[in-house]
Amino acid sequence: MTLRLGVLISGRGSNLQALIDACEAPDYPASIALVVSNRSDAAGLDRAEQAGLKTTVVDHRDFGDAQAFAREIDTRLREANVQLVCLAGFMRIIANEFVDAWADRLINIHPSLLPAFPGLKVHERALAAGVRISGCTVHFVRPEVDSGPIILQSAVPVLPKDTPDTLAARILTKEHQCYPNAVRLIAEGRVKIDGDRTVIDDEKGYLTAADCP
Ligand code: GAR
Repeated sequence: MTLRLGVLISGRGSNLQALIDACEAPDYPASIALVVSNRSDAAGLDRAEQAGLKTTVVDHRDFGDAQAFAREIDTRLREANVQLVCLAGFMRIIANEFVDAWADRLINIHPSLLPAFPGLKVHERALAAGVRISGCTVHFVRPEVDSGPIILQSAVPVLPKDTPDTLAARILTKEHQCYPNAVRLIAEGRVKIDGDRTVIDDEKGYLTAADCP
């Protein structure tokens, strides 16, 4: 039995693709049960369909408020027997009711080393702050935006000639490794939440392997 994932997207879906690719390995302990997009034109939907995955669109504009929108997503995830929800470039703030209902079964990837630079315009702000290192974070979701117990992070250098786009691209390659690795750790039952942080049973050396996280 593999852990059934629900992946929520809004656009390009390259992190979704990384999860699709990971799930194709025979020994990967998770599978994608449903891809949900809030936009019908999200390129990630094509990736999901190409991979033969079940997709559904829940357009936020069809709902009077954020709670009703989140309730519909919740219904579709439950209908698909989803066990872990992965936000992958899902660009809507999700109602607290949903975050509470899926507490400890809802994770997100963010393109900075949280708690630095939560929110939007992440790379612009990292460059403006003159940081020398940035990266990505996979974390459990809590109601405050881009907060919650950190599962994995991966760092990249910030180079003198970086623009927001070059920095984003360097971080994105790390995101594509980190997200499947974090899901694997959870699916293998190696991630325990301890208050505001997680403790990882790293018997297999994922955290110390040269190319990982
Ligand atoms: C990724 O860089 C992801 O970290 C970011 O959006 C991009 C989605 O790309 N997410 C956030 O900023 C959420 N706070 P993708 O659609 O190609 O996976």
